[in-house]
This record gives sequence, C-alpha cells and structure tokens, in this order.
Amino acid sequence: MTHDEFPTDEPAVVTCGLPYANGDLHVGHLRSIVSGDAFARALGSLGQETAFVCGTDMHGTPVALNAADADTDPESYASAYHEQFAETFPQFNVDFDHYGTTHDETNVDLTQSFVRSWLDEEYVFEREIQVAWDANEDQPLPDRYVEGTCPYCGETARGDECDDGCQRHLEPGEIEDPVSTLTGNPAEYRTREHEFLRLSEFQEYLSGFLDRLDGTDNARNQPREWVEGELDDLCITRDMDWGIDYPGDGEEDLVLYVWVDAPIEYVAATKQYSEQSAFDWERAWQFDGETRPGTQWEDDWTDDGGELIHVIGQDIIQHHTVFWPAMLRGAGYNEPRAVMACGFVNLAGDAFSTSRNRAVWADDYLDAGFHPDLFRYQIVTGSEFTADVNFSWETLQERTNNDLVGVLGNFLYRSLLFAHRNFDGTPDADVSDEVRGEIAEATDAVRAAVNDYSVRGLGEAPVDLARFGNEYIQRNEPWKLTDDDPERAAQVIRDCVQLAKACAVLMQPVLPGKAERLWEQLGEDGSVHGTALDDALVAPPATFDEPTELFDEIEDETVEELTAQLEARVEAATDTHESEADEESTVTDLEPLADDRISFDEFQDLDLRVGEIQTAEGIEGADDLARLEVDIGHETRQIVAGIKQLHDLDALPGSRVVVVANLEKTELFGIESNGMVLAAGEQADLLTTHDDAVPGTKVR
Ligand code: MSP
Ligand code: ZN
Repeated sequence: MTHDEFPTDEPAVVTCGLPYANGDLHVGHLRSIVSGDAFARALGSLGQETAFVCGTDMHGTPVALNAADADTDPESYASAYHEQFAETFPQFNVDFDHYGTTHDETNVDLTQSFVRSWLDEEYVFEREIQVAWDANEDQPLPDRYVEGTCPYCGETARGDECDDGCQRHLEPGEIEDPVSTLTGNPAEYRTREHEFLRLSEFQEYLSGFLDRLDGTDNARNQPREWVEGELDDLCITRDMDWGIDYPGDGEEDLVLYVWVDAPIEYVAATKQYSEQSAFDWERAWQFDGETRPGTQWEDDWTDDGGELIHVIGQDIIQHHTVFWPAMLRGAGYNEPRAVMACGFVNLAGDAFSTSRNRAVWADDYLDAGFHPDLFRYQIVTGSEFTADVNFSWETLQERTNNDLVGVLGNFLYRSLLFAHRNFDGTPDADVSDEVRGEIAEATDAVRAAVNDYSVRGLGEAPVDLARFGNEYIQRNEPWKLTDDDPERAAQVIRDCVQLAKACAVLMQPVLPGKAERLWEQLGEDGSVHGTALDDALVAPPATFDEPTELFDEIEDETVEELTAQLEARVEAATDTHESEADEESTVTDLEPLADDRISFDEFQDLDLRVGEIQTAEGIEGADDLARLEVDIGHETRQIVAGIKQLHDLDALPGSRVVVVANLEKTELFGIESNGMVLAAGEQADLLTTHDDAVPGTKVR
C-alpha cells in the first residue's frame, strides 16, 4: 500500500461489510454497500485499477440460531439468503466484481491457511476458559446463545457484542449473569480449552497502524482506547458445528469464530475475481512476507501491495481496525489503507429492530417502485457519512424533487432539448474558457472527494455542476440569441451540451443508472461506466435525438401513503414491544396457584360453550364494560364483559369465544348479563378456539 494520492500505480480493493445470512436486507445494510459501490466506481473513473468485492457472511451463531428456529439446517438457511442478497444488490445498481460467500471452498482454504500461518509463527496458543453452558440442554452456549450484562457498561448484551450499549466485542466468559437464549435458564460456566490469537503482541504495531490509517475519523479514533489500553488476546474458536473447522491438531470439535473467516472473505472474493479477470489479487493483498510486527513505524509497511479500503457501518470498527490488521499481519498480508465507517440508519430516532419488523426493508423500497438511483442519492447526500440518519420517505421526496428534478434533471432536459431543436445535437463551436474551467473544477472536486473519502462529495458534484449550468443558461438567455446572434447561441448551447456530458461522467458513481441513460441521450457509444473523469471535457457526438426527462417528481400522495404504512409499522412494533415488557412484569406478579383441588364432577358442573360474538358495543358511563351478543348455538345471549382493554370493539363480531353458559344471571349498569366470556389477565385477552368448533359446542 502507498499513502500517495489516488490514483496510484497499485491495484485497489474496495470491500463492504458482509451481510449476515440471518435475515432480509434493509436500507441500513444498503447505506455502506451503496457507499462502497459509489466509491469504487469513482476510483475507477480516476483511472485507479479497482476490484469491488463482498460476500455473504454464512457462519456464526446468528445464522445457526435462526436456522434452528426455522427448523432447517444452517447451510440451506444461509444459502437461501445468499441467493436473495445476490439478486437484490444489482437492483440497487450495486455492481460487485465478485460477490461470494464465506462458506465456499476458496474461503475455507484461505481461512485455514491464515490460521496455519499463525500457528507456524506461534501466534496461536491454547488456554482453558470458562464458557457459558446450558445445564438443561447439556450444551455450550457460544456467542448469541447467551444473553446477560455487559461487564464494561452494564447494558444488556447479547453474546459476543454489546450492541445496545458500548458496542464492545465481548470475549467468551465475559458476559455477567448469563442466561441461555435456548431455554431462558441461567447459564453455568464450565471449563473448556480454546485457541487464542496473541493480539497483545500486536499492540505497538496496531498503534502505528492507526496513525497511518486513512478513511473516516471515527475509524481511527474509536479504537485508540482499546489499542492503548490492555489488549486482550482473541479467542478464535467456538464449540459449534456450523463454521470452518479449526485446522490445528486434536481440536476436531471446534470451529473458527465467525469473525476469523468473515473478513478473510475479502481476500477470497478478490482471489475469485482474479480467476475471471486480469486483476492480480496477490499483488493487492500480499505484503513482503514479513509476519513479525516491526518496532519502527517504517518497518511495518512498504510501498508495495494494493490499496485496501474497507467500507463498513460504525458498529464493526473494532473488528476492522484491531482484529483484522493483526490477523493480516500475522499471516504476512498487506494492511488496510483506509476504513470508512458510516453512521447508522435509524427509524424515527431509534435503531432498527428487525425481529419486530421495525425497519425499512430493501423490498419496501423496491416495491414502492422508485428508481434505485434515488435511494442512492438520498442515502449518500442526506447527511455526513459518519452521522446517523433517519430514513424517511419525505427525505427521499425532498432530495429527489429539489436536487434531482429541480436542479439536475431540469438543466439536462432544457439544455439537450434546446440543442436538439436548434442544432440537431451538439453545435459546431468551441467550449468557452469559463465552462471548461468550471468542468475542470468539478472533476477536481471529485478527485478531492475520493482522496478525502467523501462519498457525499461524489453525490453532490453533478448537482453542483448542473446548478452552475442553470445559472449559466439564465445569464446567457440563449432563447433570445437564436435569431439575433446565432453564432453566440451556438456557443452557449455548445457549453451547455458539454456541461451535460460532464454531468453524465460525474453522475456515474452515485447515479449510475441515470448516468447511463443520459449517455445514450447524448448519442454516445458504449457505456458511461469505465469512462475516465477527463472524458468530461471530450466533445459529445454531433447529433443526438430528442431527450426525455431523466427524473420524475415524487408526488405528495405517494409519500403520504408510504409514510402512513411505515408509521403503522413503527407503532405496531412499539406496541408489541410494550406488551412484551408488560408480559415480563406480569410474569413476576403472577397470582399464586390455587391450593384447593376440585373434583372432576365439580368441574363438570360448569357448562362451557363455544360462542360467536355477533355484536359488541361500549356501555355508556362504564369505562370497562361492553355489551356483547353472543351466539351459543341454542340461543343468542346478552353478556356484559369487562373487555375495555380490547379497544377495537368493532373488530370483535365474528370472533369465537368461550362462554360460561350456566352462570347465575346478574345485572351490570342496568344491563342484564346472561353468562360470562372467559378472558386472561389484566388485558382481558379473550379465550378462543384453535380450530373452528361451531357455536354451542361443549368445552370439556
Ligand atoms: N457479518 C458482519 C460483518 C462481517 S464483515 C467481515 C455484520 N453483518 S450485518 O449484516 O450485521 O451488517 C452488514 C453491514 O451493514 C455492516 O457493515 C454493518 O455495519 C452494516 N449495518 C447493519 N445495520 C446497519 C444500519 N442500521 N445502518 C448502517 N449500517 C448498518 O456485521
Ligand atoms: Zn457494553
């Protein structure tokens, strides 16, 4: 790796954090992935040889647990998600050079070869540790199989990470008050032998590495405290079946920790790309073979090797700036040049909760029918890359209508239409110095954005140039010139056409689909992808057809509808969350079980019947009560029920309930109640039948 400005003479590899194969993709995942795609495309337009790779993270406890819940084996479960991811990315115009999986042979082999190198270098040692254990199930509880309290911040933490609190990685045995997620029982700790990577030996190296690291500030700053404090060795094995086998001797029952094989997929995917292209993965990834960390800053890296750039979300900074560089160095590989860590995508100020469907899924966006480039533009320019953002359909509308329709689309359409109508294409004139200068500045801004790792700058560049274009047209009023001064008109329009072409080149990283369409409108041959930034100043073809508008406004109605759907979902998720919390609290104040037993005969005295609610209405003046008419087969009964907690009385007719038919009649609020409807708990959760027993059926 060099620390020279891009483009350098070395090959670059841009990677994105691998999505776990344990659930659908959401717009949070897409933030770093779209950013990586835009950055890789921009590097290419600077003339940097670039590979853009990623893959599906198939292993780990999140996948194993979800597969078990879904009653299937982890491999089929993860493969299905892999296929889904591989189909989804192109729909967002994300164009990986290779998209692999951590479970394929290349990664298995490469991962085991990394571990063997560490073994050869004596970076791996064995240690007895305490691992969480479920006594009921008699099985170990690696990572997500256990929940408890984070020893660093006191928040509830899951397995190997404190994702609701301090975001730290947690080693096996660290979590306090562990509870098994399999059975909900308190877990025990048992002694087991595991393999460790001597991270502590890399402390000084990592400190120097952080000094050299490019990318975003958060990626350099956040890990400082870990690297400068006491650096714990990393447990690299787990008691599980699902994963890559630990290749050392005598440990057949251990697999490698998922964070060992996951980043190695960056290398494996590059290798697979090399097999289908001229890209040299070894040149990109391999160092000079030195595996010992040096003591001098300059001992630790050379100018050889590629520019490795990792684009991730901020929750996995530690893995990429502490574990990963040590893993690479310990096996004689090149070190990352840059880590770009984006902020989180949230919903109404709170993190997504995928288990509660409190998220905006990739499919929500695709189903809404918007062009993928609109999302790309929104997510890239909506905020600073490192800031958290809330996803909203209003922001999509605002970004689209103001910038893409109002500025960019408007400039392109009016210029090209004017050029087509009056000159049948590009007028025969020279580009003015002013416009030439403006385009050169815009391309310099892209170079600067790449060198500053500013994806936002890449998104803004074409819109800024179009803003200039609109101002330029306004100032020169070519519509007045066509008759009075045709030569001057030709010159102004010539400038506008060149600006339009420059926009196409600048749009390519963030708005690749729209850039391609503009390219066609300009009558250009081939694809805008792969064009160099400097092509922004090359004349477009002399003739082109009538243009069409590149962007459509997003209507208020559409946004209102989508927003209402999203709000309903957030509310539902909040309600379930609250009632889950209620459940927890009522579990602790459960009424004690009755001591007195009744005989079967006594039970037989109850005449319990299936009923079907016909009507339900609130009783005026009574907060809790509703008047129901319930069909119990032989007859329809009027029953007064304390079910005010079930707010939606309108939804009750048609519901099956269980009625005590031989209860003494009583009168409530002046209304006779002829029977009782059974309900559970404070919330008056109505009992119903599992199948479709007809009204009147006896319950025994
Ligand atoms: N499998 C690991 C990464 C291994 S990389 C060698 C993982 N998977 S993930 O599915 O949880 O996340 C995939 C990527 O999406 C990561 O870069 C993660 O930081 C990012 N994001 C996941 N949720 C996100 C948001 N809500 N917002 C922004 N980025 C998010 O971590
Ligand atoms: Zn914590």
